[in-house]
Amino acid sequence: MDSSLEGSKSNSEFLLFPLLNIFQVNEMVFARLTSLISVVLAASQITSAALTKRVTCSTGHVTANAACCKLFPIVDKIQQDLFDGGECGEEAHSALRLAFHDAIGFSIHGGKGGGADGSILIFNATEEAFRIRSYLTDANGGIDDITSRQFPVFQETGLTAGDFVHLAAAIGTANCPGAPRLQFMFGRPAPRAPAPDLTVPEPTDSVTAILERFADAGFSAREAVALLSSHTIAAADVVDPTIPGTPFDSTVGTFDSQVFLEVLLKGSLFPGNGSQPGEVLSPLHGEMRLQSDFLIARDPRTACFWQEKINNQALMVSEFKAAMAKLQVLGQRNLIDCSDVVPVPKTLTTPIKFPASFSRRDVDIACPQLPFPNLATVAGPAPTIPPVYVYSQ
Ligand code: HEM
Repeated sequence: MDSSLEGSKSNSEFLLFPLLNIFQVNEMVFARLTSLISVVLAASQITSAALTKRVTCSTGHVTANAACCKLFPIVDKIQQDLFDGGECGEEAHSALRLAFHDAIGFSIHGGKGGGADGSILIFNATEEAFRIRSYLTDANGGIDDITSRQFPVFQETGLTAGDFVHLAAAIGTANCPGAPRLQFMFGRPAPRAPAPDLTVPEPTDSVTAILERFADAGFSAREAVALLSSHTIAAADVVDPTIPGTPFDSTVGTFDSQVFLEVLLKGSLFPGNGSQPGEVLSPLHGEMRLQSDFLIARDPRTACFWQEKINNQALMVSEFKAAMAKLQVLGQRNLIDCSDVVPVPKTLTTPIKFPASFSRRDVDIACPQLPFPNLATVAGPAPTIPPVYVYSQ
């Protein structure tokens, strides 16, 4: 029995050693892993410290990269010379539209231009001539006003056309309360050629054609609707040339979600000289409704993306910012993030409202799957929306 006990003792001791060894080995591995992790963590902290290191420019501005310092005086110049000291006016709206018309000259399949390269500014005569391609509307209609306004300022800055167009769009948008602070990536080379024709969607296009064009440039239906948030700070000069500066919503000076609501209101009138190509019935005197916005707001492929932005400022702004970040670097690479030169926009916190005399019963509900937000109505009689001052008049 003793021997059997001894035998079992020795067996267990025999067994114990390898077990201890495994534990020790594990402990060693664990210790090494821990020290390895601390080294990696320390290294990553050093890297992130290096990445987040801030540079103080000679102007006193602080930025993430010394290469961005030269942009601060240019931002001030653009505000003074182009945007009347920082206004969300016609020039700011047009600068955003120009960035879109420039960048969308691109295809993920190739062969459609250099994207966000400023070709629309350098080769303005060519790209503006696209307006005569269609007997219905002008794809780049009205763009000549802003290119001729921007060109002399652009020449004085020393920037490439692409950097200028996309910096001006970010600054102009930032002048509109409620807008996101758009990303600005710096370092585009000079554009090599004009974009080809037929890249800019037109208000007479079908939803299928519009979504196909956006998809060809790399944007989903959701992103296309997100980009259309821009029409909250938009007015038409040439859709009906008898009424230049006719806004798309009742709050054209603020980047709110009012346009998503108002495009869904039942239309009853044309604000100017009757029905024009690309225009459909509007709900308000003085307001222009594009056929493309009308259709996209009601199409089953896009209606819910449209409706969910109504009174959801945070969603609208974050989706717009993300889609713009993608748009403004189409076709570009090796850019430096100079977003901290872009002014910080004022925030909006008040809920949007139905225009006076309108309510839920005036809405074309096109996304019954989602609840429609409860909104108050502005007091008083139905408004007439005043035009945006147009600088070329
Ligand atoms: C379905 C796609 C789109 C169509 C069919 C379209 C069409 C139009 C039209 C016809 C105008 C009025 C032009 C005039 O008469 O002066 C306009 C204005 C404007 N669009 Fe679009 N657009 C589209 C997408 C976009 C996108 C993606 C952006 C920006 C990201 C944008 C920004 C603007 C702005 C800011 C204005 C106002 C310009 C001003 O007030 O001077 N649009 N758009």
